[in-house]
Amino acid sequence: MDKLVIEGSTRLCGEVEISGAKNAALAIIPATLLINGVCTIDNVPNISDVKIYCDILKELGAVIKWNTPNELTVDTRNITSSRAPVEKTSKFRASYYLLGALLGRCGDAQVGIPGGCNLGARPIDQHIKGFEALGANVETTKGTITATASRLKGSSIYLDMVSVGATINVMLASVLAEGTTTIDNVAKEPHIVDVANFLNTMGADIRGAGTDVIKINGVKELKGNATYSVVPDQIEAGTFMIAALASKGDINIKNCVAEHLEFVTAKILEMGANVSCEGDNIHVWCNKRPSKVNIKTLPHPGFPTDLQSQIGVALSISEGTSIINESIWDSRFQYTAELNKMGAKIIAQGKSAVFEGVEKLYGCPVYATDLRAGAALIIAGIIANGTTEVYNLNHIDRGYENIEEKFRKLGAKIQRVSE
Ligand code: EPU
Repeated sequence: MDKLVIEGSTRLCGEVEISGAKNAALAIIPATLLINGVCTIDNVPNISDVKIYCDILKELGAVIKWNTPNELTVDTRNITSSRAPVEKTSKFRASYYLLGALLGRCGDAQVGIPGGCNLGARPIDQHIKGFEALGANVETTKGTITATASRLKGSSIYLDMVSVGATINVMLASVLAEGTTTIDNVAKEPHIVDVANFLNTMGADIRGAGTDVIKINGVKELKGNATYSVVPDQIEAGTFMIAALASKGDINIKNCVAEHLEFVTAKILEMGANVSCEGDNIHVWCNKRPSKVNIKTLPHPGFPTDLQSQIGVALSISEGTSIINESIWDSRFQYTAELNKMGAKIIAQGKSAVFEGVEKLYGCPVYATDLRAGAALIIAGIIANGTTEVYNLNHIDRGYENIEEKFRKLGAKIQRVSE
């Protein structure tokens, strides 16, 4: 079992380059199944979820070549199966996109019930509602979900709640459907816009991504023959912005889109950080203990749940008492028990947590309970006195490319050790 050993307490300073967005890449890779051709995808994050996705596509008949560590060429001309391997697909969440993509391409799709981080209940009823509205028959049995349709026909779909996954999945299923599909009450995250831009580059006709309503005019074929660059990862950029604040550091974050990060900028300014944006760089520096703030996580453009644990670390050492309300997931405060082992004073109950700021955290062994909790515990280890050992790195490797290398370049004393 690998662990990260971190010697604190370090002020992070220097430059960091942000990778392509995990949650965009994990939708764009299956979206290639809709193309009857070859396409190249650049700025792909080299993370374990992406590698599993590529293996799954190969098993379905796609030919995939890594041209560089961050560029892929995908040839989906000869898809031989629409039934994805159950064991691999049930390992991670984004495998649900195979349902929309394969249904759109083949009129038939099967995946294992998607797994992923344990954040509480993660139903996919809205994805299924969308597929059924397009004319598919969907069955869940013996650990698999199967969707079939003789013909998909455009329809009007109102999502009962704002869902990233359902928005993208129904969009994927509609691209080659006959006629026009309208999806109302959709998610507006930058990765939604990125997936729509990718599909449009390949020949789709999708309008309105980034607003509350997406309209898809079905086309006969997506041809490919184009290169697409994945949008920078807003959550990774936000993680480093918060790391600069929490460590009283000075970090220049390169290759990011400042408009995608306005929610973090607003909060860390309130907490006492300085932020300046120029081109695709965000510079964050801070020289005082963070101030208390209250936060409620919300769909984009609100404060994202995927940065809740990282900002929780900054609040744990802030001056005063803060409250976080988590409105997306039922169980996203598991990391607070790990921070409390390090000396934090956090009381979490249900979907709220109260952070009574302490002056200092102290290193000890801690366990990543999910991907973002893992990133938060690394920041905690960097700012703590003494040695922190972070376990369960499989969670972190799913979504952050070379994370310890990036923190090391900023001055962190962090090593990956095999036990
Ligand atoms: N929901 C339903 N029914 C559905 C779909 C969603 O009730 O059919 C509920 C969920 O239970 C949740 C809320 O709606 O309470 C929002 O869920 P959403 O569908 O937006 O989440 P997701 O698509 O499963 C993606 C990201 C998550 C991120 C959420 C919210 C991927 C692969 N995952 O999940 O990312 O937290 O959107 O922004 O894109 C992460 O990267 O660490 C991560 C967990």
